[in-house]
Amino acid sequence: MDNRRIVVALDVSTATELRKLVKQIPNAHCRAKIGKELFTSIGPLAIEICHEAGLDVFLDLKFHDIPNTCARAVRAAARWGVWMTNIHCSGGSDMMRAAREILEGESHRPLLIGVTVLTSMSEAGHQELGSIRELGSQVDYLASLARDSGLDGVVCSAQEVRRLRQSLGSNFYMVTPGIRPSWAATDDQTRTVTPSEAIAHGSDYLVIGRPITASDHPGDAVTRIIKEL
Ligand code: C5P
Repeated sequence: MDNRRIVVALDVSTATELRKLVKQIPNAHCRAKIGKELFTSIGPLAIEICHEAGLDVFLDLKFHDIPNTCARAVRAAARWGVWMTNIHCSGGSDMMRAAREILEGESHRPLLIGVTVLTSMSEAGHQELGSIRELGSQVDYLASLARDSGLDGVVCSAQEVRRLRQSLGSNFYMVTPGIRPSWAATDDQTRTVTPSEAIAHGSDYLVIGRPITASDHPGDAVTRIIKEL
């Protein structure tokens, strides 16, 4: 079993903040997630700082573009040596396959994960886009399209994992944000689950940000979470 199932969302915007934070994240138990704000602020330096600290990187840039552009962006991520990166499933099977196939020619192949429907999306917001399915069925539909297009897994709500596991089987990674230990503030997340609940539901990787990064002692917060697991 993977001992590093906690993926810490490093949602800061400067190299100074990042350097300070990564020193406090135990790389034996955690990986790092770099999102749009940090990457747009300091670029690939963010990846280098994490790698220097011994942290594998999930580059969470959620690419969505024409197949050629999306695939080349994914290849660029691979060439930075990231462990995982992601694309929007709603870009379609041609886009997902192109991203998958371009990695065949690379010496380092990151895990390629699909974003189905953002967990911030409400049923009303989803219907506004003209979908013919309810939101839950759209998540299921896009997750199976991702699997059939050769992706390695999906980002999803921990509350969806059990259902998705039943239809997609065990050989497909489920990466879940919206995780809150019982002792942490929920912040702006709704429908949170605890780390142990997420694992019990079948989640492979837990994306956890503020309960660790906003703590006075991020390393202690990780230790508490690991004990709970
Ligand atoms: O601080 P917190 O634990 O809420 O951080 C969660 C991280 O996961 C953030 O970087 C957020 O952008 C990301 N995320 C999320 N929900 C999604 C997809 C990504 O919270 N559906």
